[in-house]
Amino acid sequence: METIIKKIDKMNIDQKTIQEAGEILKKGGLVAFPTETVYGLGANALDEEAARKTYAAKGRPSDNPLIVHICEVDALNRIAVNIPEEVGRLAEKFWPGPLTLILEKSDEVPYGTTGGLDTVAVRMPSDSIARELIRAAGGYVSAPSANTSGRPSPTAAEHVREDLDGKIEMILDGGSVDIGLESTILDMTVTPPMILRPGAITADMMEPVVGHVSIDETLLGRETDKAPKAPGMKYRHYAPKAKLMIVEGNVKEEVLAIRQLCYAAVREGKRVGVIATNETYSYYTNGVVKNIGTRENEKTIARNLYAVLREFDDEEVDEIYSESFALQGIGNAIMNRLEKAAGHLRISAASVVKQQKYRRIIFVSMTDTCRGPMAAEMLRREDLHQEYVIDSRGMVVLFPEPVNQKAEAVMKSAQMTMASHTAVALSEAEMEGDILLLTMDEEQKIKLTEQYGDNGNIYTLKEFTGEETDIPNPYGKPLNVYGECLETLSKLIHKLTEKLNSFTEGGA
Ligand code: TXA
Ligand code: MG
Repeated sequence: METIIKKIDKMNIDQKTIQEAGEILKKGGLVAFPTETVYGLGANALDEEAARKTYAAKGRPSDNPLIVHICEVDALNRIAVNIPEEVGRLAEKFWPGPLTLILEKSDEVPYGTTGGLDTVAVRMPSDSIARELIRAAGGYVSAPSANTSGRPSPTAAEHVREDLDGKIEMILDGGSVDIGLESTILDMTVTPPMILRPGAITADMMEPVVGHVSIDETLLGRETDKAPKAPGMKYRHYAPKAKLMIVEGNVKEEVLAIRQLCYAAVREGKRVGVIATNETYSYYTNGVVKNIGTRENEKTIARNLYAVLREFDDEEVDEIYSESFALQGIGNAIMNRLEKAAGHLRISAASVVKQQKYRRIIFVSMTDTCRGPMAAEMLRREDLHQEYVIDSRGMVVLFPEPVNQKAEAVMKSAQMTMASHTAVALSEAEMEGDILLLTMDEEQKIKLTEQYGDNGNIYTLKEFTGEETDIPNPYGKPLNVYGECLETLSKLIHKLTEKLNSFTEGGA
């Protein structure tokens, strides 16, 4: 079948296109259309055969019921019975909008549409194209998300085309959707009403209207034997090709942990991806980093989530690490979808960060022109299990001098270079926290502790590695003494690497 793709402008809806699409639906065909949540795959909700086609096009199990979309509240009376009075209040407050209500179904709704259930899911979308289409189709349009079963819901017409081209009659391309996550589903057949799927309309928003609202406990992602109440929520839904893991903690810890996890994965030869935010993405240096939106407005994150997950399927990555979001407002829905995509794989950021005794290593010498920069360059070339920022600094640096020429010569003969280094003075701001300061000799260590106090993070390199040999100061001596210095440093740096790696033993 050839799928007709028609652009349609929300602000200036072409009636001919709507009528054409409406006719297709009336005749039992399938039309994908935009809603404010995600794109839907429309069919006539009162036609059993059209429901069968819907399942076939999506490759979706037929026990997974469809949502019936209406365009006016009165339409409810034909498809639902024993409607609780709260429904009127909810409809008044939240319809049209991203709220689906589960009600007892009438005989008019075929079991094909409800997946064999005696209840029916109903929603009135707010998107103007969606509403005009529903009207043109006769008022009752079933619409699951317009993706192939197992892929993220489509938030742009292009996603629908990727999944359903050649399988459906028409796609109405109304541009990108507004919300980006599927509607909230509220079961009105139980007391108190129960959220079966979190979405943009939250419990906090509904409670003033209907009183206490409960939440399907299986959604909380904790281990439970029970099946979710909305049949569709039991499916893994969407599993990215790469292994997706959610890193949980405060934002700072998450960034540090993800940096380390990526570093460790890349070291093992894996390709990594990161789901980051506007506030954090510049802190990541490894892998394919996607900025999913700003933490200041989580709606932006909801809107981009599915597109980012789709993009990652086109990237050759083995693992994806995602930051996590607060379980507040739309954050509940974001985390629900992310956790499903991750198959509930979570990593505690704190447990990763806890293993990082130091994050930065500074080699301190007098002038930062010889032994310090040599040691720093050597350590950078070691196979460290943890990512460290490695620098050298001088205690007496008057101007940014280049390194000593003989030191550079012996480094060059060992296939290393310090050509880009110029001397930098140690500053007090650098003395803080998770920094390890390693001096070249005892005298420098004493001076440092006298000047800055002893925080237990200042050692001579010899002392920290538990070695006996002093590091000769070759300054003013012939080239061979520089060579001896390089050899001694090289041994100590290997020892240092072993010691640093022992901190992350068995870790990430
Ligand atoms: O935002 C949305 O709701 C989108 C747009 C297109 O409107 N539609 C959507 O449909 O997400 P779908 O089919 O992808 O998801 C419908 C969910 C499934 O999890 C299904 O199991 C649940 O609604 N559902 C439908 N009828 C139900 C019923 N009678 N009882 C319990 N759950 C039901
Ligand atoms: Mg869906």
